[in-house]
Amino acid sequence: MNGDDDPQISKSAWSLGSYIEIALFFLPVSAHLVSLSNISTNDNVLDVACGTGNTAITAARRNGAKVTGIDFTPQMLTQAKAEAALAEAEDIKWMEGDVEDLPFEDNSFDVVLSSFGHMFAPQPDVATREMLRVTKPGGRIAFATWPPEHANGRMFDAMAKHIPNFSSSSNNPYPPPSPMQWGSPDVVKKRLGGEVTGIHFERGAVKKPVLSPNHYWQTASTKGGTLI
Ligand SMILES: C[S@@+](CC[C@H](N)C(=O)[O-])C[C@H]1O[C@@H](n2cnc3c(N)ncnc32)[C@H](O)[C@@H]1O
Repeated sequence: MNGDDDPQISKSAWSLGSYIEIALFFLPVSAHLVSLSNISTNDNVLDVACGTGNTAITAARRNGAKVTGIDFTPQMLTQAKAEAALAEAEDIKWMEGDVEDLPFEDNSFDVVLSSFGHMFAPQPDVATREMLRVTKPGGRIAFATWPPEHANGRMFDAMAKHIPNFSSSSNNPYPPPSPMQWGSPDVVKKRLGGEVTGIHFERGAVKKPVLSPNHYWQTASTKGGTLI
């Protein structure tokens, strides 16, 4: 790695481009995640690294639960609020904050969700500890991440030619570890630790409608902060 390479995705990268145009593709994932979480009306729900609000808004609309969305990028939160207003889900509380230092008391939430969010925290063990800390005993944590062998994982591996810690290989010695390692069930189990029970994994694919590979590349490289 030379001195010009940023060893992690910088915080400011997330405000570049226009993530909301990409987020549309991931709506089915949010819907599935919310279904799997069995959220009920009285649940207190946290959506970690909520971005423009896909999962938080889905959870609030589907179940009428009390939802908080937290993200460290103010521009994402501005858009999330606008999305929530359009969706008539104005009761959602939006907060600026870091998943590695969640501004909540212990045992605050029945359900903690993350769709392609906490996986980008540079210290996965710290992010995991925080998500577990704010979850009530008997609560649920549900998240969606990219697996190393699918398109986004492969793209990170391609980028690893220039930013070696992006390599999703479990032998990658560089800190911070690639976010794509969150797509490996063995890694996830290890990070969650022995006290988390009833772990359930599913593998799926997001189908992105694109006219051609060049259209995909144009969108990914101009709208998505990580690639920019
Ligand atoms: C790929 S977007 C996913 C957004 C949203 N969850 C979704 O499903 O569309 C990743 C989000 O994680 C946020 N993020 C990354 N690292 C974070 C951290 N350490 N703490 C809080 N938010 C973070 C970014 O600002 C961005 O909004």
